[in-house]
Amino acid sequence: MSGGDNLEFEIRPNPAPVSDAERNTLLANPGFGRIFTDHMVTIRYADGKGWYEPRVEARAPIPMDPASAVLHYAQEIFEGLKAYTLPDGGIAMFRPDANANRFAQSAQRMAMPQLPGETFLQSLREIITIDRDWLPPGDEGSLYLRPFAYASEVFLGVRPSMEYLYLVIASPVGPYFSGGVKPVSVWVTPDYTRAAPGGTGAAKCGGNYAAGLSAQAEAIENGCDQVVYLDAVERKYIDELGGMNVVFVLDDGTLVTPPLTGTILPGITRDSIIKLAERDGRKVEERPVSLEEWRSGATSGRIREAFACGTAAVITPIGAVKSADGEFVVADGGTGSVTTSLRKQLVDIQRGRASDPFGWVHRV
Ligand code: PLP
Ligand code: COI
Repeated sequence: MSGGDNLEFEIRPNPAPVSDAERNTLLANPGFGRIFTDHMVTIRYADGKGWYEPRVEARAPIPMDPASAVLHYAQEIFEGLKAYTLPDGGIAMFRPDANANRFAQSAQRMAMPQLPGETFLQSLREIITIDRDWLPPGDEGSLYLRPFAYASEVFLGVRPSMEYLYLVIASPVGPYFSGGVKPVSVWVTPDYTRAAPGGTGAAKCGGNYAAGLSAQAEAIENGCDQVVYLDAVERKYIDELGGMNVVFVLDDGTLVTPPLTGTILPGITRDSIIKLAERDGRKVEERPVSLEEWRSGATSGRIREAFACGTAAVITPIGAVKSADGEFVVADGGTGSVTTSLRKQLVDIQRGRASDPFGWVHRV
């Protein structure tokens, strides 16, 4: 790793920020990923020079040469995390150190230079501080932070780029699903897989999401909110959703979730839920769950609840499950009590309403 350890950010405030009145109108109904704050962070990288020119500047289009490597070979990674307003008016991020670590892991998988963790954290603090007026009011909203990096070298040969651009943008958000915390329906795609052993499933790289768009479109065509992927080898076991991990709740209260074998994203929400459940004395099993086990368990009552979890989705119950073999409903298709309880515990810690024995909440 070269450069970047104690970078001093140059702050160039946006000379024409959104007016208070317009911002307040936007914040009243932010949706997800539609509106953005006044600033962005940029840091450049070049082989032999390391990370340089860290800046906070007006959010604006980035000039890009048509031969920029990312446009051709998709060498790109990103992260997603949220900042919340605390009861005393302060602002905190949830587990940003875990995102820093995963960003470094993703960089390694995609043959990209690692941004030092402290620089990653500092870049988040910088954008939150300058755009602190963009946190939505009320109990539902948060500021979604999107750090990302891409290959910016102008070169068409296939090899790791020698230049990169790291950016952070921020988007005030409400719930990811427009129905709020209502159960979502999922489509088990018979045609597509997300990641094979040895592939990039555990990395948060744009290519994984591009490859999933046809499967997500198939889910929508079949009247479902999200796609569920089966494992690429046996086409039998549940991997994850298009943008979330999956957790099952058994009739004895045990949580079961697919293991981290390299084909799914190691979700920070997933990890937090496992720790919260274990604190409650709940048993947690990280093991493969087949579609057949889900179907028969939902029918027999052995599987009482299922939910999707991720930064954007928080904890969202799964109601109906559709596949090429037909449809079934988890329990009564509503929101189970364990799902509700875990969601409340998680959200209360994130928003500073409950104590934080794990040290997850990082005040800015
Ligand atoms: N799986 C995928 C494919 C995702 O895109 C996400 C969201 O980031 C997750 C799982 C959940 O990860 P996290 O809880 O860290 O947001
Ligand atoms: C996130 O939860 O941060 C994601 O990246 C998932 C995406 C569906 C928005």
